[in-house]
Amino acid sequence: MKQVKVGIVGLGRLGRQHAENLAFRIPGCELAAVCSVIESEVEEVQQQWNIPYGYTSYEEMLENKELDAIFIASPSGFHCDQIKKALAAGFHVFSEKPLGLYLEEALEVQEAVNNHPDQVFMLGFMRRYDRSYMAAKEAIDRGEIGEPFMIRCYGLDPASKMDGFLQFARANYSGGLFLDMSIHDFDLARWYLGAEAKETWAIGGAYARPEFDEINDAETGAAMVRFENNAMGIFVAGRNCAHGYHIETEIIGTKGSLRIGTVPEKNQVVIMKEVGVIQECFDGFLERFEQAYQKEAEEFINCILEQRKPEVTVEDGVKSTELGYACKQSYESKELVKLNE
Ligand code: NAI
Repeated sequence: MKQVKVGIVGLGRLGRQHAENLAFRIPGCELAAVCSVIESEVEEVQQQWNIPYGYTSYEEMLENKELDAIFIASPSGFHCDQIKKALAAGFHVFSEKPLGLYLEEALEVQEAVNNHPDQVFMLGFMRRYDRSYMAAKEAIDRGEIGEPFMIRCYGLDPASKMDGFLQFARANYSGGLFLDMSIHDFDLARWYLGAEAKETWAIGGAYARPEFDEINDAETGAAMVRFENNAMGIFVAGRNCAHGYHIETEIIGTKGSLRIGTVPEKNQVVIMKEVGVIQECFDGFLERFEQAYQKEAEEFINCILEQRKPEVTVEDGVKSTELGYACKQSYESKELVKLNE
């Protein structure tokens, strides 16, 4: 197979970016089909980029046997069903995070993936393909900070996007703050610490916008996690970050520590004027993780071409979902939740 033919489902905020990468920036890949329930999105992308096939029905796209792989960037509630259908139809599958909104369905997907061992499955934990996160992993593996025993993560969405999120969340189930936002941090913690979570205590609330109480979700929350090797994790997630999109990670080891993204600077420009010294901040995930989205898609296509499996597995999706779900339970019950009990 010289050229992998891909069909993508979901052409929204992230799907459009993935589609553009698959169409123009990934060697060995051809974006042959696009699918969305919104017909105008399908037509626009097809015309703009000369894509041969367009669908408003996902099931119809799966009947196209010219395709080799399906790229899923639809809303989270559809991932499990769409992954299972694509695998059953014989395709390689990439799915955006989270694997599922419920643990039961994540486990069903795990079984489906394991029942199709010759097909590549990859989950969109793109931070593992971000240059800085990769460099941090290499430094930890070289022993630069000794034995890592603590991780501190901030995952903060811009306050400017809060109205849009509230509108979305009133009509759709997002999984809640921890499953929706901290899921990347949970995966990173497992990756860096080399251990699974054992217990968690999560708290949070609605501080600037009481509407979050109405949708039973936290606007800002914090989870404290103990891992099986006794390492500690502190995860802060929020949707009300005044200065922009702030993703920060610190890993503390027995001989040192390292930090990624402490100042979420958009670029290297520093503006100095009468109000002070200003560095602009990233305004969203597309800007911050542009390189990582491209790199993960490249890895998916290379795995298909080279008949190998990606490092990010369905088990990573299940384990992160387990922790996210435990945090949600702890937040709702106000009690410490032990995993695997
Ligand atoms: P969005 O709401 O902007 O776009 C969703 C797209 O899916 C739209 O084109 C919509 O028409 C289409 N769609 C909805 N239902 C469909 C169905 N049944 N069949 C076919 N198409 C359907 O959503 P957004 O923000 O692009 O998020 C998509 C997914 O990506 C979510 O699961 C989200 O969790 C994930 N995501 C991941 C990020 C990351 O950093 N890895 C960042 C942002 C989102």
